[in-house]
Amino acid sequence: MDYNVEAVKVELIKPAIGAIVHVDRNAMFEPAVAHHIMDLLEKHTALVFPQVNLTDKEQLAFTDALGARVNFTTTVPGGDAETRDVYKITLDKKTNPEPEYVLGTFFWHLDGATVPIPIPKASVLSCRKAAPKGGQTQFCSTVAAYEALSETEKKELDGLRVVHSVVAAVREVAKPEDLEPRKRGASHEQPLVWTHKSGRKSLLIGYSADYIVGMSKAEGRALLARLQEWTAQPCFTYSHDWKEGDLAIWDNTCALHRVIPYDPDCGRTMHRTSIAGVEEAR
Ligand SMILES: [Fe+2]
Repeated sequence: MDYNVEAVKVELIKPAIGAIVHVDRNAMFEPAVAHHIMDLLEKHTALVFPQVNLTDKEQLAFTDALGARVNFTTTVPGGDAETRDVYKITLDKKTNPEPEYVLGTFFWHLDGATVPIPIPKASVLSCRKAAPKGGQTQFCSTVAAYEALSETEKKELDGLRVVHSVVAAVREVAKPEDLEPRKRGASHEQPLVWTHKSGRKSLLIGYSADYIVGMSKAEGRALLARLQEWTAQPCFTYSHDWKEGDLAIWDNTCALHRVIPYDPDCGRTMHRTSIAGVEEAR
């Protein structure tokens, strides 16, 4: 049965980023609706589906309807065979023995920048237990931020390459020697400005951005810090206050995200799935 995509209602959050999508939860897996959702994602970068209450299996089915599923984490806390591609994000020590990676998400980042695979296209996140205080996820558009730079600034960024590393991603919360040797050495070089096949350009920055190739560390990091501050301005940013059952998707190739700190013992639990990248950053 064809689903009428006009039955999908969209409320704009900000011109640069964000839309709330109202859709019958049972229709979310329909190919026509999934296609429409990907179009909305291209337009609005971050989409919120209020209280659709998807189970893990439904979240996987929704992820599969949107694109190819990818699991770029080698360990999945709390995963079982059936839902091994569902990453449980929690600071609860019983479920997650590696809290530094969750603590690292308190800082602006994109998912999978340090892994030698095409940057995951989108992340799908559902709220299983909200934090009573804090715990909002914030998204900022690296496309809108790039577009708003002056022509002189854009020229200065032209052709620059940036190295993203795990050590840099968790620099505020863990020492390099606290990481497994394999993760300590994980890094990947990316263009600083990604020209997408669509013609849009986005900035590949965030905390995992360690240094700029061919620049002194001081000069490169100062540039990265300036770009980071520019991109995180309120006009390019949406902050989502989670309710249990909410689901969000964001274009991980065109946005950064971070979490507002919350009490580690409050039980906040989020379930993440990921959609594979479809193009190399260049
Ligand atoms: Fe993340």
